[in-house]
Amino acid sequence: MEPAPRVPVSALPAHAGSRVEIAGWLYNRRSSGKIHFLQVRDGTGVVQAVVGKGDVPPDLFERCETLAQETSLIVRGVVRADARAPLGVEIGADSVEVVQIAEPYPLGKKEHGPDFLLTQRHLWLRSRKPWAVLRVRDSVIRAIRDFFHKEGFLCVDAPVFTPAACEGTTTLFGVDYFDLGKAYLTQSGQLYSEAAAMAHGKVYCFGPVFRAERSKTRRHLTEFWMVEPEAAFYTLNDVMSLAERFLEAVVARTLEERREELKILERDPVPLERVRAPFPRISYDEAVEKIRSAGGAIEWGEDFGSPQETALSASYDRPVMVHRYPAQVKAFYMKRDPSDARVALCVDVLAPEGVGEIIGGSQREDDLEALLGRVREHKLPQEAFEWYLDLRRYGSVPHGGFGLGLERTVGWICGLEHVREAIPFPRMMYRIVP
Ligand code: 4AD
Ligand code: MG
Repeated sequence: MEPAPRVPVSALPAHAGSRVEIAGWLYNRRSSGKIHFLQVRDGTGVVQAVVGKGDVPPDLFERCETLAQETSLIVRGVVRADARAPLGVEIGADSVEVVQIAEPYPLGKKEHGPDFLLTQRHLWLRSRKPWAVLRVRDSVIRAIRDFFHKEGFLCVDAPVFTPAACEGTTTLFGVDYFDLGKAYLTQSGQLYSEAAAMAHGKVYCFGPVFRAERSKTRRHLTEFWMVEPEAAFYTLNDVMSLAERFLEAVVARTLEERREELKILERDPVPLERVRAPFPRISYDEAVEKIRSAGGAIEWGEDFGSPQETALSASYDRPVMVHRYPAQVKAFYMKRDPSDARVALCVDVLAPEGVGEIIGGSQREDDLEALLGRVREHKLPQEAFEWYLDLRRYGSVPHGGFGLGLERTVGWICGLEHVREAIPFPRMMYRIVP
């Protein structure tokens, strides 16, 4: 057979009329006596290759009848326009080269339960919905990086091995670290971002973080990705405005790039189109009132659980920013509100449609004595925090930032029930394989 240029399936429409080669996997096959219809996917899309009885040698035509799902193959033929095809083209195949005949594929056409699919995650990634989700995730990641770059934030990444907790001591994963004793997988890069902000002004880190969460909810992973901007001279209001611009930009960009994928996911884009600044800003106190007047039970001083967040976020058509939570339920590094010492200068952004918290942020305690007090109150090992305290000794300034959970955000944008489908290989309390 004559050679033909290799073309990605997504680019086939531009090659109508030419003979090309595509390389991929057999997604589906249908045969009548005289024609085989091979659905071939190559990672960029799916195209139908039509193999007519007279178009290929008889032995190859017969062999096509036996090709199993996920058989890897190289198909050559002429791209022709076809109004019925989703891509607008199909391939009139004149050559089918089999790379490997797949064994019977465990993911058939029948419905599978989520547990089974998770055990087959390495193969499930090839299915249409996971494929669409990971393409959305890719867009979200690029939108995030582009946003911060445009806003003048420098990417400065944080270490994963750390000497101490930053988000509460109950969710730490410890590892043996040579002769230095215990190290911990980081729960957040924030403390390091604060140091970097004093060097560069505006920075962000974006990497995996770890929480030994014993929760089996649809919002919790033990390993997830967080992006954390941090800026010198930022107040709580600056943090909120940044979060607002940021979410608006990320959602708009994803909608622009991934309409087709959202269709595959049967995600209604309308609620996402409403993600426009300004977002409502309410205080914790106002939120408590709202929860109570909707019949929910909450005492002042308690953190919101999923039911309360769901109820709150469901009453807005766009993300809502809840600020000034009681300091007692928040992290040690948050600055207290000078006009009410019971509350912290913090904000949680709750995504709409009942999704709940996707961003947590705050203005940081910039006073050395106050921060020392917090370290002691929270029974944190002071030696491990000396470097962090130094940031308050040498040119301390007001500053703040936030952390956005990537999987919760992707899950929200894709309309997923559970965050575990928003990451390629989810890590949960009860799952570490594959
Ligand atoms: O609210 P969190 O704990 O905030 C921090 O870690 C701060 N240090 C961030 C900062 O100010 N730089 O976590 C931030 C976000 C949450 O809003 C949520 O989206 C996500 O991280 N998150 C999780 N996502 C998946 N699984 C978990 N177990 C998560 N825990 C938090
Ligand atoms: Mg939080």
